[in-house]
Amino acid sequence: MFKVLMIGCLMISVSSFAAELTTLKNDGIHDANGAGFSKLQEPKEALGDFPKRTDGTINWVKALDQKLISPRSNKVGDGKMTSVNLDLILKNTGSMPYVLFSHKVHTSILTCANCHIDIFLPKQGSNFINMNNIMAGEQCGVCHGAVAFGIQDCAECHNVPSDKGDLR
Ligand code: HEC
Ligand code: HEC
Ligand code: HEC
Repeated sequence: MFKVLMIGCLMISVSSFAAELTTLKNDGIHDANGAGFSKLQEPKEALGDFPKRTDGTINWVKALDQKLISPRSNKVGDGKMTSVNLDLILKNTGSMPYVLFSHKVHTSILTCANCHIDIFLPKQGSNFINMNNIMAGEQCGVCHGAVAFGIQDCAECHNVPSDKGDLR
């Protein structure tokens, strides 16, 4: 009973998490009165045609496959991207299916330092990841719900059937 209630409350609170494309004026970063503001490209113009996930956020994995983006390891872009092929199955998921964390996918877009060691210690099971933290914008939530798909579609992450009789 408790779990069902808790999941119900997760579902309700996620609607504010969509990271859909906003306008520069409303992104909380740019000053619309600043000099040169009118020269900036609107996100919709640059990213409007990019492949999307079910929650309307950009599917960066597909964008990379389609060569629409080419990630850099640093600001000037003179370093090499290092990708590791290390899948981890995260099993502290209550009655939900397990979560596959793919280093291959993440390191084709990000560098190790984007996560290690400020967000995650590089040791499986040492970070006590949970949905409260994710919804508070920590752990996976530093990016998921901000620059990548949010938590509405549980199955985007909870995608490995367990033997526990999963809820979905
Ligand atoms: C530093 C940023 C960042 C963090 C932290 C992060 N992710 Fe991601 N993740 C991304 C980005 C960017 C993508 C690509 C998004 C897309 O294609 O929609 C992604 C994609 C994914 C995908 C889709 C993979 C696929 O094959 O399409 C899954 C699943 C995922 N992340 C799970 C997680 C989990 C679980 C955590 C925490 C343990 C996590 N991520 C932490 C940035 C991050
Ligand atoms: C998007 C975030 C993210 C990025 C980028 C990332 N990692 Fe990780 N890494 C994780 C998470 C999450 C774990 C597992 C933490 C846990 O289980 O508590 C992990 C665990 C590890 C582990 C421990 C594995 C084990 O079996 O204990 C190593 C080693 C590691 N990462 C190396 C790397 C290297 C090398 C890179 C860059 C090429 C990298 N990671 C990039 C999120 C990331
Ligand atoms: C961005 C990826 C991601 C999405 C989307 C996601 N989760 Fe999770 N969830 C995780 C990770 C990672 C863990 C921790 C796994 C671990 O550390 O072993 C977790 C753990 C959990 C747990 C057990 C721990 C806790 O916090 O109680 C429950 C229950 C859970 N998720 C439910 C959900 C539900 C319901 C949804 C959809 C509304 C959802 N999750 C969406 C990544 C995600």
